Amino acid sequence: MLLPGDGIGPEVIAEVKRLVDLLAPDLEIEEGLVGGASYDAHGTPLTDETLQRALASDAVLLGAVGGPKWVGTARDKRPEAGLLALRKGLDVFANLRPAFCFPALVSESSLKPEVVEGLDIMIVRELTGGVYFGTPRGIDEKGGLRRGYDTAIYTHPEIERVTRVAFEIARGRSGRVCSVEKSNVMDSGLFWRQEVTLAHAELGAGVDLSHMYADACAMELVRAPKQFDVILADNLFGDILSDEAAMLTGSIGMLPSASLGAEGTPGLYEPVHGSAPDIAGKGIANPCAAILSFEMALRWSLSRGKVADALFAAVGAALDKGARTKDLGGELSTREMTDAIIAAL
Ligand code: NAD
Ligand code: IPM
Ligand code: MN
Repeated sequence: MLLPGDGIGPEVIAEVKRLVDLLAPDLEIEEGLVGGASYDAHGTPLTDETLQRALASDAVLLGAVGGPKWVGTARDKRPEAGLLALRKGLDVFANLRPAFCFPALVSESSLKPEVVEGLDIMIVRELTGGVYFGTPRGIDEKGGLRRGYDTAIYTHPEIERVTRVAFEIARGRSGRVCSVEKSNVMDSGLFWRQEVTLAHAELGAGVDLSHMYADACAMELVRAPKQFDVILADNLFGDILSDEAAMLTGSIGMLPSASLGAEGTPGLYEPVHGSAPDIAGKGIANPCAAILSFEMALRWSLSRGKVADALFAAVGAALDKGARTKDLGGELSTREMTDAIIAAL
């Protein structure tokens, strides 16, 4: 199912459709509305009907949601609330956010080439718990004081299941997992560290586990990012660290993600970037993050690893030939960038 969403979402999903037609024409494609587009049409950023259709599909590919038009809307009706409801409704608790530096983009990073050359990190972000969903939360008044608050809370099963995924992913890579939290100041962080340590004793055969405070990890990511292989983080720290990791690879327009739930349930695939209101409608967005999200869907939900390999290689080959959108210092439009990838295929 395709959910283009808002801003540049429909622009990048249009390019994905061209690749679906080319690489997997037998797939049955459905489309739906999410985010501001759904709010404008139905008064809610995610209808139950759309969620049910998403649940009945094999994979869901989302463009992006949000934009200035809906900033004043009540929080539970905002486009972002639709995305959170979709993640929760699909129960996709493990968000895989690879930060991979394509050889051709080594010089696009704001860091020195030698710091990012060969970079290949996988951030595993817990996606359906933590401070994003904890209650109580609100903005109210108590004892004459106006206040705003959220609750950072994790339960044992929530940490165990995402840790298990991080260990499985690490076993297919170098075997190293770095778990990040703020156990020095937060009880939920201390609990996170205890639970990950316990899970490691029970389920972590062959995995080399280390721990780091999230602030130190943010610093180490720009000082010496190649020390990391798999980074395991909660919902909020994983959100922040994955945007930071994006810039190591040249542009946030390059980063895909896969969100996975229990075996046999549909995965949710989306670029890490947002709806980019500043460039929406201009036809200049980088489609690579969306195209690589489709690549992850082929791999993780649709059992088409060989096609995924070919698509990944074609993105690399197009970049090698100098294909660049504006965010990468080039001149190509969204469509021309896809043309270059299709030519490389
Ligand atoms: P953003 O990712 O939309 O944009 C940040 C910067 O990166 C902008 O300068 C933008 O032009 C640029 N950029 C992003 N994607 C690009 C691409 N594919 N090609 C070229 N340049 C690109 O983040 P923001 O500005 O903080 O948020 C804008 C809106 O998007 C907000 O409403 C936010 O809540 C929402 N958002 C949605 C998602 C999502 O749908 N998964 C993710 C992040 C932010
Ligand atoms: C992301 C975004 C979302 C998040 C928002 C839009 C709800 O920033 O996918 O990284 O915070 O998870
Ligand atoms: Mn984010």
